[in-house]
Amino acid sequence: MSTITFPQGFLWGAATAAYQVEGAVAEDGRTASIWDTFSHTPGRVLDGDTGDVACDHYHRYADDVALMARLGLGAYRFSVSWPRVQPGGRGRANQRGLDFYRRLTDELLERGIEPWVTLYHWDLPQELEDAGGWPARDTAARFAEYAALVHEALGDRVRHWITLNEPWCAAFLGYAHGRHAPGGSDAAAALAACHHMLLGHGLATRAIRSADSAAVIGTTLNVQSLIAHSDSPADREALRRVDGIGNRIFLDPLLRAEYPADVATDIAHLTDLSFIHPGDLATIAAPIDFLGLNYYNPLVVAASVDGQPSAGPAWPGCADVSFIRRGFPVTHMGWEIDPAGLTALLRRVTEDYGPIPLYITENGAAYADTVDADGGVHDQDRIDYFARHLHACLEAIRAGVPLQGYFAWSLMDNFEWGWGYSRRFGLLHVDYATQRRTIKDSGHWYAEVIRRSSLQ
Ligand code: FCB
Repeated sequence: MSTITFPQGFLWGAATAAYQVEGAVAEDGRTASIWDTFSHTPGRVLDGDTGDVACDHYHRYADDVALMARLGLGAYRFSVSWPRVQPGGRGRANQRGLDFYRRLTDELLERGIEPWVTLYHWDLPQELEDAGGWPARDTAARFAEYAALVHEALGDRVRHWITLNEPWCAAFLGYAHGRHAPGGSDAAAALAACHHMLLGHGLATRAIRSADSAAVIGTTLNVQSLIAHSDSPADREALRRVDGIGNRIFLDPLLRAEYPADVATDIAHLTDLSFIHPGDLATIAAPIDFLGLNYYNPLVVAASVDGQPSAGPAWPGCADVSFIRRGFPVTHMGWEIDPAGLTALLRRVTEDYGPIPLYITENGAAYADTVDADGGVHDQDRIDYFARHLHACLEAIRAGVPLQGYFAWSLMDNFEWGWGYSRRFGLLHVDYATQRRTIKDSGHWYAEVIRRSSLQ
């Protein structure tokens, strides 16, 4: 086998998320999510940007699917907006909201593109937040009910389900750091949120599985690829802590039906863990068919170092930990570019948790793209990023990792959370004034990679 060719059947996709692309926030019965509230709160999002219009994907989905077909995508990973299909997060489904996703999936299937549905990409209905949000146990039950309702409407045309996107971000950036919605700053609440998201995942997985034995169900984590700054005991201890609260607190319950004991000790001053009820771990560990991993950059971890960013409030139990900047080239996010971290991540998950099928459900880079006078977007830096990370995937596959597909983040430029529209990740450039899409050079390049399933 040539070393630059991907295995037969390797899935090629691109990803988006509802709040980042759809717009139409008050249409057809949709109610507010925590991201609507958060983005409309002055000072929360750069330049006061909101997802009110975003890429207007809600109205332009058919043209967008036509562009996906031009790229040759095998799959489109998108998320369902909970308050669009179940306004307020309780009770009956909103048929008009569900119809949007039925139209979108029909369009995809007609073009031979597999729909991959993420059920929760961070847009909790505001009413559920008002009732306690993810720190409240009932939200897990509400999530399972919502998942069943979406499955009932789309299960005839969707086989692939991702319950959660990056629960670490939703729990710790949302409820402890405050950089994401709902903007909380309470570590204990974040830890409860984390458990209830996992519980919601387990309950949703069970609900879908019991209705549909053909469903292919997984979840997506931003497992961090970690590098100890040195071999010193202090740096290795810092790495253990970050790995615990960033990675093992998700991987162990999902794949081993247990929480890591060392993490429980690290956070014992914050919580008595009484939110974990008998039977929860068995629910959380409901068998899954694949694990999705999102990767952008590794983290280099050390015991506190002056002048280097400290782990801060998103990392409960990690006081006195620093993240070290190595001076590598960075993307427009300021994230260091290091494809070796992706190979290491894939190998680590496989070595420590066994050969569960893996998908890269997000990987990509932000650059300050412009449309040039010739009408093109010449983003060679993004092509280089993708090429190097796809080589990193091949290296992991060669080492025996069961990596079965790759989704570029993102299909198109979109609302990048706290950064608003200032950070562009797309294969398609979006002119937000006109909503005109332009296939970037990276999009043309990716289309060619997909066509050959090879990096040649
Ligand atoms: C991930 C999110 C995704 C996007 C990328 C850049 O954390 O899942 O929505 O914002 O980062």
